[in-house]
Amino acid sequence: MASASESRHGMWSSGWLFILAAAGSAVGLGNIWKFPYIAGENGGGAFVLVYLGCVALVGIPILAGEVLLGRAGRASPINAMRKHVIAASGSPLWVLIGWSGALAGFLILSYYAVIAGWALYYGVKLGEGALVGASIEVANQTFNDFLADPWQLILWQTVFLGGTVWIVARGVIKGLETAIRWFMPLLFLLLVVLLAYAFNSGGFMAGAEFLLSPNWEAMSVDGLLVAMGQAFFTLSLGMGAMMAYGAYVPANASIGNTVITVALLDTVVAIAAGLAIFPIVFANGLEPGQGPGLMFVTIPFAFGQMPFGAVFGVVFFVLVTFAAITSAISLTEPALAYLVEQYNADRSRVAISLGVFCWLLGLGTVFSFNIWSDVHVVAGLSVFEFIDYLTQNVMLPLGGLLIALFVGYVLPKQLAREQLGIDGGIVARLWPLLIGFVAPVGVAVVFVYTIYQSL
Ligand code: PFF
Repeated sequence: MASASESRHGMWSSGWLFILAAAGSAVGLGNIWKFPYIAGENGGGAFVLVYLGCVALVGIPILAGEVLLGRAGRASPINAMRKHVIAASGSPLWVLIGWSGALAGFLILSYYAVIAGWALYYGVKLGEGALVGASIEVANQTFNDFLADPWQLILWQTVFLGGTVWIVARGVIKGLETAIRWFMPLLFLLLVVLLAYAFNSGGFMAGAEFLLSPNWEAMSVDGLLVAMGQAFFTLSLGMGAMMAYGAYVPANASIGNTVITVALLDTVVAIAAGLAIFPIVFANGLEPGQGPGLMFVTIPFAFGQMPFGAVFGVVFFVLVTFAAITSAISLTEPALAYLVEQYNADRSRVAISLGVFCWLLGLGTVFSFNIWSDVHVVAGLSVFEFIDYLTQNVMLPLGGLLIALFVGYVLPKQLAREQLGIDGGIVARLWPLLIGFVAPVGVAVVFVYTIYQSL
């Protein structure tokens, strides 16, 4: 049995590696694919401001809460919550946080792998020079044809999930840490290159204005819920991923500095992705509110117009895939670590079994774009839209709310202070207010408002 100062699954080599790992989890399709299109659909600048408020006031405190629960528990979220509940004599119902997290991770990964597969496909397609000089109509048609073919989608979903399972099966150090060490620096490098291209595209000012200047009329109440959901999704909160990673953090790393750095990196990447994509949209007279296809139509089209576009296009989509993989591996960790602990099971076997289940569930998302496009689970939502809505707008915020309440009111205050390394001063006074009041009230208000709105 591992001692309480170490996790049985392994430990990050340093505090810095934890920052990279957590940033790897946070930075993913949520930043590069989702953020630009939902900002586009919700009016741009005003949405971005609300989103930033959610990250700062709700996201950062809950991120710190998750990491400290993980580090103090040194086990998978389900078992860490069990330990905390016993130590604090709390209700066993709090352990539901761990269960719902493991389930949410599984649900998210099922569609995440499908979309990441699209990026892989586009990497290959652009490498063949497929869209060089093509018109926007052809770019649109290529995407629609691709979506209409379930076999293609399944092929690329399988490749992505296979890669994820392979990394995860190799363990925390050999698998997760190695992938993170390589993929994260490459990702940052490419974003800089892409920003430089966007800057010279002729649409930079229009793109930047759309993203950064608030137009409050375009912001709806629904946009508020979407912004809160996006803050949770992009920071990987509310489902125990950060708690699972927190269990592998060395005792001497500072949680406060770490979480602020991770939130900053994540936000910078989201804004940078928007600043790279919208200028291209405007320079080519395209629509910003295009929805999920934004990254798969406008970006390939734009690369098709630029010198060496095929090369840059390949690099871009390969790196989107890397960003997605470093997130996908964290989506599996809560369930994986629990199954390994509970059944003393072999990590690779658990990884493969989880991968197979996820693949099967992912078929629901694959078919949402073709043979089941007329099938609606509830309220006109396809299987993909339903899983996305349920996880991002319901399960993650609710998980986050419960985590904030647990840390704020059930966990011994002294334990939280020790983990955060705060003894006195302004942070020590602010912390209980943020985790016990601002964060939970923020999430709760958005929920109540939305329910009221839909009545
Ligand atoms: N944060 C990831 C992204 O923005 O793409 C998605 C994600 C990863 C959500 C891990 C939740 C999670 F636990």
